[in-house]
Amino acid sequence: MDLSTRYLGFELRHPLIPGASPMGDSLDTVKALEDAGAPMIILRSLFEEQIKGEEMATYRSLEEPANSFAEASDYLPRSTPGLFKLGPDEYLDQIEKVRRAVAIPLVGSLNGVTLGGWLEYARLIEQAGADALELNLYQLATDPGLSGDQIEEQALAVIAEVRKKTTLPLSVKLSPFYSALANFAQRAADAGADALVLFNRLYQPDIDLENLEMIRINLSSSDELNLRLRWVAILFGRVKTNLSVSGGVHLPTDAVKAVMAGADSVQMVSALLRRGPGYLAEMVDGLERWLEEKEYDSLGQMRGSMSLLRCPDPSAYERANYSRMLQSWEA
Ligand SMILES: Cc1cc2nc3c(=O)[nH]c(=O)nc-3n(C[C@H](O)[C@H](O)[C@H](O)COP(=O)(O)O)c2cc1C
Repeated sequence: MDLSTRYLGFELRHPLIPGASPMGDSLDTVKALEDAGAPMIILRSLFEEQIKGEEMATYRSLEEPANSFAEASDYLPRSTPGLFKLGPDEYLDQIEKVRRAVAIPLVGSLNGVTLGGWLEYARLIEQAGADALELNLYQLATDPGLSGDQIEEQALAVIAEVRKKTTLPLSVKLSPFYSALANFAQRAADAGADALVLFNRLYQPDIDLENLEMIRINLSSSDELNLRLRWVAILFGRVKTNLSVSGGVHLPTDAVKAVMAGADSVQMVSALLRRGPGYLAEMVDGLERWLEEKEYDSLGQMRGSMSLLRCPDPSAYERANYSRMLQSWEA
């Protein structure tokens, strides 16, 4: 069965990619993923805060003895010791090590939302040997003084700046909470994104009522897939980028749905963290079996078949479905 797909300019044997996560920290895990058939791997992100923290640490060690900028330096972020697994230099070293350890394309990841010197790392990641770069624009708009327009303009400026810094194929990982996502997706493509990754998973803290603490939920379930399916289906054929689903892919049928919605690649993290790298091979087998049973000739044949452009009932993705659903409820 031909499961091949093209993503970020690479011809991949199948669309299932281990997504950005700690899996890339260990060479053993990276090799196990390659052995399980991973056609590409995405490393965890290097964060803007982390890079700036490092720059500031150097700056402070130079300036603080004289204390001449003590007040100004209080405005600047301090890195939280121990928060990040790999420092910026270690991150680049890790890229070099992974590059030497496996033959599959390697994607570095930068995570941040403002313009600044930290974006130089796009170039450094390329020099360290990455084959592509994922830019994660994770942001929660918690500041009442910041408008949607400002947030979008800033994000687009960051994409354009990264585009200038590197010639690597560039994917941009989005959050679902833009007020006009389809429009933002198009502008992200215009700013230089070669692929859009839908979506960042916004970790939604719950409240532990006994201990009055926040509970952080870490791994996903298939329930999170539907939001991705809807938006990939809406964007398929309408933005000029590749589309990748990230979030809620646990079963072969989840991957089938993602591709039918229009995904060129399907990223997996929670399922692989839970079940181990070998689960990737089971997913590929399951995907192949499903296509054979349903008598498809290739994966490409079903891509986008359930997108807004092609599905039998496009209204399912739009307002019409919402009103129909509410009206059709019977107790
Ligand atoms: C432990 C852990 C670490 C992660 N680290 C990153 C990261 O560094 N950068 C990033 O873009 N996404 C990161 N993610 C998010 C995943 O790449 C992915 O988008 C998310 O987990 C949803 O996919 P899933 O449902 O397959 O887990 C992380 C997820 C987990 C669970």
